[in-house]
Amino acid sequence: MDIVILKDSEQVATAGARVLQKLLMEKKAAVLGLATGRTPKAMYRQWVINCRESSMSFREVTTFNLDEYLGVQPADVQSYRSYMQRELFDHIDIDQTNTYLPACAADENPLDVGPRYEATILEKGGIDCQVLGIGQNGHIGFNEPSSSLNSRTRIKTLTRETIESNRQYFDDPATQPELAITMGIATIMDARKILLLATGAAKADAVRQSIEGAISASWPASILQMHERVTVLMDEPAASKLERLDYYHWVQDQKRRVLAQNESD
Ligand code: F6R
Repeated sequence: MDIVILKDSEQVATAGARVLQKLLMEKKAAVLGLATGRTPKAMYRQWVINCRESSMSFREVTTFNLDEYLGVQPADVQSYRSYMQRELFDHIDIDQTNTYLPACAADENPLDVGPRYEATILEKGGIDCQVLGIGQNGHIGFNEPSSSLNSRTRIKTLTRETIESNRQYFDDPATQPELAITMGIATIMDARKILLLATGAAKADAVRQSIEGAISASWPASILQMHERVTVLMDEPAASKLERLDYYHWVQDQKRRVLAQNESD
């Protein structure tokens, strides 16, 4: 794991934007896995700025979102489709037909959505880089604690704590969904690279358990320890409970030193 601890959430956003810029320089037609929620918003804002002000283009990019609420239609302001349009898709040069979410149409059997989503991801060549946030309970996507570490896209029941922490987005609690369709943990692990973002002290326990704890379905993000190419970008409050903080800082110092050395050669 490449563990990068930055001062604040703005620095996390800037570093995340740099990861994307590098990827799109190597592969214009990249396939991105995207997350919603509070955490990636600042990074998406940087993507939008980079798309407007530099040569960065999403014209050939395809995106797959991690999850979508079940029973919420795309046009609904609370849907993750609406979130993505608002925060990113409406402001960049992406071909909207290449943006996918695991949404269930009103006349569709929800059980068909997962296998179809998995097939479409494969058809597009698999995900090059998956962006993840992390829940306070260690969930990734809506893979709540106890989710199978081998799971694929499917319907999940949200935990009470996830419902509680997302309540702020729903004016009327009665309309808040308790089910979602989410990429599975195995789907996420298939991505060729993973970019996990964590900001704020509320994430400190989940970050510690996922990076330094045992791999367990009780902390779903801990499975990322098994992935070959994970970058974790976090701010100081999110990193505050890590035991090996000094070591992680030292590794990053060494990397910077090697880079500077190579540049001066
Ligand atoms: C969102 C998602 C979730 C969030 C997580 C953190 O698509 O899949 O796993 O990444 O709940 O949410 P925030 O960033 O709002 O703290």
